Amino acid sequence: MTAHSVSGARMMALGTALPDKVLTNHDLAKMVDTTHEWILERTGIHERRIGGTTAGLAAEAGRVAIERSDIDPATIDLLILATTSPDRRVPATASTVQEMLGLSCGAMDLNAACSGFVYGLIAAHGFINLGHHRVLVIGAETLSRMTDWTDRGTCILFADGAGAAVIEKTEGPGDLHGWHVDSNGALESALYCDFDAKIEMSGQAIFKNAVLAMEHAARQSLEMAEMSAADIDIVIPHQANVRIVEASCKRLGIPYEKTSMVIHRTGNTSSASVPLALEDAWSRGRVKKGDRLLLVGFGAGMTSAAAVITWDGK
Ligand code: UT7
Repeated sequence: MTAHSVSGARMMALGTALPDKVLTNHDLAKMVDTTHEWILERTGIHERRIGGTTAGLAAEAGRVAIERSDIDPATIDLLILATTSPDRRVPATASTVQEMLGLSCGAMDLNAACSGFVYGLIAAHGFINLGHHRVLVIGAETLSRMTDWTDRGTCILFADGAGAAVIEKTEGPGDLHGWHVDSNGALESALYCDFDAKIEMSGQAIFKNAVLAMEHAARQSLEMAEMSAADIDIVIPHQANVRIVEASCKRLGIPYEKTSMVIHRTGNTSSASVPLALEDAWSRGRVKKGDRLLLVGFGAGMTSAAAVITWDGK
């Protein structure tokens, strides 16, 4: 059965970047009152990468995605940078990345917390439906700069990284079948970071609501796609906690084995986590042409977003 499409665009290729510096759970155990075993059991994280700038990581991931797409960078009309950790308040870090990549196009930051890359992907389809030819979507973060390294409730989770995708106009139907974006501002106080401050989080409140938000966003996008959970070949979830993903999959009736997980080596990289998990699945040959993917994220806000796509990339 050919699934109906809601957009004339497709994802072409992916790129990622991670800082060189590895911070293990054992390193953290020397900094705060925690253990490798506790972190692994409660989150699924072994180690994470920290360092660099948001623009630097974003440009590295974007460059790889452009190279793999085998396109002329001059044909990119827009750069969307999903980030909660811009390098400056003004200008948008997207403008810095545009200069680093030598692009002549529109550029903007998009902050939807950890749902940011999926929001950016959906926005890219929207811009292409309005006439753009190619859009570069990047999710990049340097959360280590916003992390309180004395708070064991948060410093075990957050890390740095970037992932990028080139989206292009197609002649016929595109790869996007269903999507959903949401936010519940009433939960704002559960996860926030004030200017010149560090991340504050009520872990259990986020955990409980994350499971519900992921399920809701996934169901809404599947409904638009006229598909059921059984039609999905691989789930690309936000990498916040293995237990959140397990619980969401259980509620959706999707076997956990169908997920792509990189959290054990990346930690929670917010807007970078979905493209990092997607690229990992692609590089391992787990994503083949025609496969149905469910991308789903949630984060501070609390925002959530999901997209059902068919893999038609390189
Ligand atoms: O992108 C979205 C961002 N955020 C999230 O997705 C976070 C969602 N929440 C979580 O992932 C989990 O709530 C955490 C991993 C943050 C915490 O796990 P938990 O299973 O919810 O632990 P808890 O907060 O219920 O704490 C259980 C115990 C407490 O001790 P007592 O009161 O039982 O004696 C904590 O004080 O574990 C203690 N604890 C720790 N122990 C060792 C809390 N953090 C740590 C730690 N190491 N790092």
